[in-house]
Amino acid sequence: MPDPSFVHAAFSSIASRYVTANHVLSLGADILWRERALKMIAEWKPKNLLDIATGTGDLALAIKKALPEVEVLGTDFCRPMLDVAVQRGLTHVLEADAMNLPLPDACYDAATVAFGLRNMADYEKALREFHRILTPGGHLLVLDFSMPEGVLAKPYRLYLHHVLPRIAGLLTGNMGAYDYLGDSIETFPRGEAFCQLLARCGYLAPQALPLMGGIATIYTGQKPV
Ligand SMILES: C[S@@+](CC[C@H](N)C(=O)[O-])C[C@H]1O[C@@H](n2cnc3c(N)ncnc32)[C@H](O)[C@@H]1O
Repeated sequence: MPDPSFVHAAFSSIASRYVTANHVLSLGADILWRERALKMIAEWKPKNLLDIATGTGDLALAIKKALPEVEVLGTDFCRPMLDVAVQRGLTHVLEADAMNLPLPDACYDAATVAFGLRNMADYEKALREFHRILTPGGHLLVLDFSMPEGVLAKPYRLYLHHVLPRIAGLLTGNMGAYDYLGDSIETFPRGEAFCQLLARCGYLAPQALPLMGGIATIYTGQKPV
């Protein structure tokens, strides 16, 4: 499981270059994945939404733009990442550990976490905490990397473990932060295993939607009414 102090230090050190590095390394695919997530969120018609591990605010800002009627709060435990989110126009932010949110029970209709849960020290504890702050009937959406299967698997592993850390090192000045990315993706539960984890944490109807052959996956689940 990831070490929170390593994760905090890694994101603090790359905060100012994170947005560019992200789009370059995913060849812009992360933008398409967030758009797919937006379509699902729009169908839920939430009044308010908590974007957990919001980082530099990409998903929270996209939600605010596409769904201006939704009240969006972005939360993250890394102040330098939140500072960039605020500079980019995210007005409501909260510095907090996602596994211990300083929020009352049942206060958000929807919660999202993009590329964040995988970095947390205890996935189950985090998912139960997200469940606690959701209103009955509220929805959770998790967008994260997974591993493609079949012919894509070998070339993707080569890119992930050998090419990506080098390019990222040049872009951000911190190759270590991206060396860890490949290992964290390999060990993060995916597909059916992740859906079972959601069910164990109390979410109804867990679903997995693989994107681009399984390079990333959107998972959803609902808190029972
Ligand atoms: C890869 S970034 C993702 C940022 C953003 N969601 C996006 O889609 O670009 C991961 C974020 O998770 C945050 N994070 C990791 N562990 C956390 C925790 N326990 N509590 C709050 N934030 C955490 C990091 O600080 C970082 O900003």
